[in-house]
Amino acid sequence: MPSIATLALASLLAVQGASTSIHQGLALEKYIKTERAIALQGVLDNIGPNGAKVPGAGRGLVIASPSKVNPDYFYSWTRDAALTFKTIIDDFLFGNRALQPYIEDYIHSQAILQTVSNPSGTLLPNGAGLGEPKFTVNGSRFNGNWGRPQRDGPPLRAVALIQYSNYLISQGKRDRVKTEIWPVIANDLSYVGQYWNSTGFDLWEEVSGSSFFTTQNQYRSLVEGAALAKTIGVSCTGCSQAPQVLCFLQSYWNGKSITANFITGSHNRGGVDANTILGPIALFDAHAPCDSPTLQPCHPRSLANFKVFVDTFRNSTLYPINAGISQAKGIALGRYPEDTYYNGNPWYLITLGAAEFLYDAIASWDKSGSLTIDATSLPFFKDLYPLAREGTFTWYHPSYYLLQRLVRSYADSFVAIAQKHTPPNGMLAEQFLKSAPFTPTSAANLTWSFASFVSMTHRRDGHFPPSWVPRTGPLKPVVPSVCTPGGSVQGTYAPATAAGAPNVTAPCLSTVRFVLNATTYYGENVYVTGDGPTLGGWDLATAYPLLSSNYTAERPLWWADVPLDMPAGSATGKSVVTYKYARQQDCGRDWIVEEVERTVEVPACRTDGSGEVMAETDDAFVGEGGKPGGC
Ligand code: NOJ
Ligand code: NOJ
Repeated sequence: MPSIATLALASLLAVQGASTSIHQGLALEKYIKTERAIALQGVLDNIGPNGAKVPGAGRGLVIASPSKVNPDYFYSWTRDAALTFKTIIDDFLFGNRALQPYIEDYIHSQAILQTVSNPSGTLLPNGAGLGEPKFTVNGSRFNGNWGRPQRDGPPLRAVALIQYSNYLISQGKRDRVKTEIWPVIANDLSYVGQYWNSTGFDLWEEVSGSSFFTTQNQYRSLVEGAALAKTIGVSCTGCSQAPQVLCFLQSYWNGKSITANFITGSHNRGGVDANTILGPIALFDAHAPCDSPTLQPCHPRSLANFKVFVDTFRNSTLYPINAGISQAKGIALGRYPEDTYYNGNPWYLITLGAAEFLYDAIASWDKSGSLTIDATSLPFFKDLYPLAREGTFTWYHPSYYLLQRLVRSYADSFVAIAQKHTPPNGMLAEQFLKSAPFTPTSAANLTWSFASFVSMTHRRDGHFPPSWVPRTGPLKPVVPSVCTPGGSVQGTYAPATAAGAPNVTAPCLSTVRFVLNATTYYGENVYVTGDGPTLGGWDLATAYPLLSSNYTAERPLWWADVPLDMPAGSATGKSVVTYKYARQQDCGRDWIVEEVERTVEVPACRTDGSGEVMAETDDAFVGEGGKPGGC
């Protein structure tokens, strides 16, 4: 064992070597201070109804970005909104009282959104509509093709609302939480308890299966939800699933790193993905022990995985932007190495998320007063300090100070990457180019990028969110010795009317399988338009998209199982629905709409939400075919 003096000397040298020059350090502090204010304003500018950059957005709706083309992000995503509000609520709890009206508007908007029927389903009777990823800026359904459902939205929203509810309770507002906010949270927790074990799309909206980020947040929501339910004296449907979700969470560890997704169907993914970094920061609790099976940032497996993830992007063929940067320094980070979206570039929110992850780990060590290096986490530490060895170092040990400083300057070096690629006006887009000239790309002014900046600064400043991991009692995280597959609890759902939701009832559905033969070119899409809200009431902008999943050259098949929301009175007998097909041309050209008027007879509708197919069409497109626009 080296003597303390040797270690102290080594530490001095190492800290000097790894940290930036004093000049660069000051520049970083200045950047953080300036950018923080810009970022918070950037978030608020994208929230309705008064957000300067999103005219037309409804009250309390967070718009992902003002960008309407290339890409069109002028929508409200449940995930982006909840993550943004987690940060806003944080900022509010740390003293920014001016944010309270935004939080109140958010609660109101989400109570309403929960009741909006959409292509994922409806709130009643089975909660399926809660898995819808995004809504239009005025809060109406979005009918386009999308990777749905996505099951991270409800738990993230529940966690944000629970955080605010706990604050209200501390202010003596228990009754308000119980009557007004809990009903919103309860729907989301019911959804988690019922569907955590069902497949869904990942946070990047691309692969269907089970996703680490989603599972991790689902677990947190059930534990925190159970605790809140107890405080206000209600029961939580679904919270009993928490131990099984925790059991499942452990299965993502592959012995070396965290496999980000269990994907159904064929895919081209190695399993390295930023979702494994963003998950731990979303459930960070500075008071949780580092061996907590919740997989906090300071968990040895999380640290080992951090290294595997970051090292993947050190490959300068993949990311020329990272060429020549040494192993102990932060780099630009993207979603996953196989990414092709906008050519697969680094993202601000992931690069900043990596910094936040490291600040979180430091906070946990500081709170517990010690830092343990084991065989699993040793490679992570060796990158920063080649002499690192296994052991437990208490805060007064020089090695503790050394390692803590090294991790902090490593964290700062990720922020410095974001700094380097932040344009002079401070606006953060979604991505920046992985190759020269390394300029911002994809959606401009991305709300989530701004929110990630604000969140990072809180952790860097030692501001930590309220603790949520129970240390004792029945909710303490204990991994069951055997995982029981197939867990699910039937949820109970009701519109949160006290928070402003309309008093909806279960829709009466007649599900029709629309089957159409239509030869199309790559880039052309086909929709069914017609009577009633599901088919968009003859408005092409809200027509229902057909799927080409079974399309072949021999059988140019377009189809969809469409749960038609029927008018009251259709429950007793058959009724007739009128519809047509429409081809959406590429390059923004006019649609080609059929000139015939079609009808399908549907049996009496049902309110049980089963979605069982009751009628099937067998159609061939009538009218001219489309031609590629060549844009
Ligand atoms: C939009 C999604 O939001 C994004 O994550 C995805 O990469 C692209 N669609 C391409 O599928
Ligand atoms: C694409 C991202 O992949 C997804 O996570 C996000 O929700 C949307 N863009 C909107 O920002």
